[in-house]
Amino acid sequence: MGVKSILTADQFSRKDLDLILEKTRQIEDLLKTRKQLHVLKEHILATMFFEPSTRTRLSFESAMHRLGGQVITAVGMQFSSLAKGETLFDTLKVLESYADICAIRHPVEGASLVAAKSISIPVINAGDGAGEHPTQAILDLYTISAYKNIQGKKIVVGFVGDIKYGRTIHSLIKLLSKYQASFVFISPPEIGLPEKYIEELNKAKITFTETSDIEALRECDVGYITRIQEERFLEHATYENFKNLYVINKKFLKTCRDDIIIMHPLPRLSEVSTDIDAMPQAVYFKQAEYGLYSRMSLLLYVTNRLDEIN
Ligand code: CP
Repeated sequence: MGVKSILTADQFSRKDLDLILEKTRQIEDLLKTRKQLHVLKEHILATMFFEPSTRTRLSFESAMHRLGGQVITAVGMQFSSLAKGETLFDTLKVLESYADICAIRHPVEGASLVAAKSISIPVINAGDGAGEHPTQAILDLYTISAYKNIQGKKIVVGFVGDIKYGRTIHSLIKLLSKYQASFVFISPPEIGLPEKYIEELNKAKITFTETSDIEALRECDVGYITRIQEERFLEHATYENFKNLYVINKKFLKTCRDDIIIMHPLPRLSEVSTDIDAMPQAVYFKQAEYGLYSRMSLLLYVTNRLDEIN
């Protein structure tokens, strides 16, 4: 069997996704009785993070430990030999002999694809600039499936905030397009959904609307709120215009459907008020927990060991 990387949400078929969700569920149950599995005990994961991260890196590292494997890590350009002028290709090339899997986060869109072409071990895209974040999308799909019946009736997912630069959104709409879902994109037009994703949705005949009015969230089954991503804006003044535009707080949430769930890939700033944290609709910390189980599944997916979970 060839090397299996995770580079884009496009690569997953509905069958792949259903299997990954099922295995993630089994792993979640297994971890309740046993903290440690041994399926990847002879494997080493390299986490190469050239942009800040808390959840993605640490959940991947925890996932590898919980599967019995080991982790080596390089965090921040300044602490690797990239700071001395080494190319990304050379940096990654040496990994082939040090690790069995590479999870990479990089500010440049497409960097993980370049990495996968450069080395012969599985590469996992842990976020490539404003491009994609496919493993986040898997954990988001798992979270939605834990609260909503995604195999049955059509669900309406409202995406709020930075839809232009929000890589988690770009990947999640690709996955949800394989289920019964329609989308409401809520953002100022300047940071709306990029044309290439609009074309994909039209081609797949997915129903969606675009608006800047937060009232549109009220009738959604899922509210997926995102941070305005300061680090992606060329003009700081543009960021300042948008940063406090939408705030989901207790007062607003009380006007939404009772069964709406509020998700956020985190980190959050002011867009989700802490006054909703204890409300049953707020599932973003559970979502982060699901990242562990989902990434355990994905490490098994790239090593072709998923069938060892049963
Ligand atoms: N959701 C997410 O990617 O979080 P981190 O940036 O903390 O990894």
